[in-house]
Amino acid sequence: MHQNHLIDLSDWPRQNWERIIDLALEIERDPSAFYGRMEGKILATLFYEPSTRTQNSFKSAMMRLGGQCLGFSNPQNSSVSKGETLADTIRIMNGYADIIAIRHPKEGAAKAAASYSRCPVINAGDGGHLHPTQTLTDLVTLTRETGRLDNLKVGICGDLKYGRTVHSLIKALTQFPNNEFILISTKELVIPAYIKVILNAAGCKYREVASLTEVIGELDVLYMTRIQQERFASEQEYLEQKHVYILDTEKMSLARPTMKVLHPLPRVDEITPEVDADPRAVYFKQAQYGVYTRMALILNLLEDDSFGASLFHGTPHSGEPCSNPNCITNVEPYLKKSYTETGDMLMCEYCEHKKLI
Ligand code: CP
Repeated sequence: MHQNHLIDLSDWPRQNWERIIDLALEIERDPSAFYGRMEGKILATLFYEPSTRTQNSFKSAMMRLGGQCLGFSNPQNSSVSKGETLADTIRIMNGYADIIAIRHPKEGAAKAAASYSRCPVINAGDGGHLHPTQTLTDLVTLTRETGRLDNLKVGICGDLKYGRTVHSLIKALTQFPNNEFILISTKELVIPAYIKVILNAAGCKYREVASLTEVIGELDVLYMTRIQQERFASEQEYLEQKHVYILDTEKMSLARPTMKVLHPLPRVDEITPEVDADPRAVYFKQAQYGVYTRMALILNLLEDDSFGASLFHGTPHSGEPCSNPNCITNVEPYLKKSYTETGDMLMCEYCEHKKLI
């Protein structure tokens, strides 16, 4: 039996996503009915990067289920600052908690953590790679606010290069029929090549554009994102991207009356405060749905063994470094490297970066 983890939604069949979405919507109707289901269970939140929503909505979810929480929100206040490895931190936490939610700046870190864990590990964001619990939250929000997960024309605007929520969301929405994407970014922040491979493989229509104003009128959903300052190599590169896309009431006047605006938050300046009063702006509701979604996720991971999936499918390549400097395997060198082969490329199974064999 595989341990239940959530590293990447693509590891699961769609029926698992649907069970979580359905349960989240049931919980929303009466959260108090679920109190006590996690009595005696402990959630560890190991946050190596800052967070308001993800960490606190996980804690809120566990507490609303009657469980308890421990962990850290700043690795400098933990023995990570003394040089403790990720593997050892996970081994220790296995003795203290029943389920772990981890956020880490390195890509593939949650998968690495899961490979050392006897209890379920949830990826709460791994560098610029994936953020599957945000995606589950987004799917719950779309279901609740648009009534469907298919036949949507979705505009995704802003930092498509480093925005892990964007990568997870596109991967998920390609699994539903007739979704179409308009990818709105500067040329410096275009979507990574591996996401285009996924879009093409799924037969999804998409186009890359630079102007939000020109396309906003076509959209069913506009997913705005923050420019991820913390992932830029220099302040100058960030400053050149800042302020490029601002959603304001003037642009909203060009949108359909039924369009919904989502944002994983936090926002900086990419949506003006005046837009908040527009009923089409659902990003604060989205953050609230995140609690119900994480309640549903915890319940399924701890109460149902069928959520397991194998972590690795490829072959170990001892000593072969991943070409991605932000891959966890390049900072935790004891990790067994693992790659899958497609044609003349090797894909790292932690961060999904590809290199020529
Ligand atoms: N959406 C999201 O991940 O927010 P936080 O960074 O505050 O957790």
